[in-house]
Amino acid sequence: MDNKGEYLLNFKGYNFQRSLVKMNIVENMDDQEIRDDDVFIVTYPKSGTIWAQQILSLIYFEGHRNNTENILTIDRAPFFEYNHRNVDFAKMPSPRTFATHLPYYLVPKVFKNKKVKILYIYRNPKDVLISYFHFSNWMITHEASNSVETFMETFLDGRVVGSNWFDHIRGWYEHRQDFNIMFLSYEDMKKDLRGSVLKICNFLEKELSEEDVDAVVRQATFQNMKSDPRANYAHKQKLKNWTRNNQGKFLRKGTIGDWKHHLTVDQNERFDRIFNRNMKNIPLKFIWDMNEE
Ligand code: A3P
Repeated sequence: MDNKGEYLLNFKGYNFQRSLVKMNIVENMDDQEIRDDDVFIVTYPKSGTIWAQQILSLIYFEGHRNNTENILTIDRAPFFEYNHRNVDFAKMPSPRTFATHLPYYLVPKVFKNKKVKILYIYRNPKDVLISYFHFSNWMITHEASNSVETFMETFLDGRVVGSNWFDHIRGWYEHRQDFNIMFLSYEDMKKDLRGSVLKICNFLEKELSEEDVDAVVRQATFQNMKSDPRANYAHKQKLKNWTRNNQGKFLRKGTIGDWKHHLTVDQNERFDRIFNRNMKNIPLKFIWDMNEE
């Protein structure tokens, strides 16, 4: 990507990835077929979308859970606005599971009936920033930055897919009463995966046996997803024109606090000031460090 920002497509104030977005979906959002029992994972990019997609695939699909099916996780919970593998949404069995990065104001109006279940996964934005920095430098379809400093400016200006991180989470949180939504943090999932899977099952009103919960948890750990070709974009890695260096992995590090290895003291303090200003009325809990309670 040589021309700055060209990979973005702005529609109603929100940046989509131009190469993937399905305009027939985003321009006709209210005409999309939505079923009462649909489940949507909502995330800002780099917040653990594939992780949540894998967890939902394992919860809902027995064959995914007992490894008898070889269907990709991203086909089990396809991206709604991108649908880059052209899954036939109408043919998906109910309850359908989707992933989306959409902001609250672009989703179909019918979501406000509060039937559709929305699982909003959020991650501390310093780790999102660092994950996104690496990802953007790695993917051919994204714009590379020569330093964290440059990317931090781009990120804070919202000149990335997903637009501004603060707008995304604030929008969803401030309008939470309009939706049937549960917020769960990446860090909670990391610190207590079993507890998080149970919380998700509870929200989805899905009862699994102890053994089935164990199987979900086992196959949703970072290490196991890294070696599970259904869940780690292995099919993409084979493509020559996907990444800039044909090395590295989509599941890069999967930790809490990687930002500490990348942000300078000054960048960190600047980030904190902006975070405190933007998030002062948002009581969501943020964990910045693996050792934090
Ligand atoms: P890192 O780049 O910090 O490693 P998304 O799917 O929204 O693009 O998010 C990708 C991020 O989630 C990456 O973060 C990836 O490693 C992390 N991730 C994916 N699966 C994970 C898992 N099972 N446990 C922890 N982190 C995971």
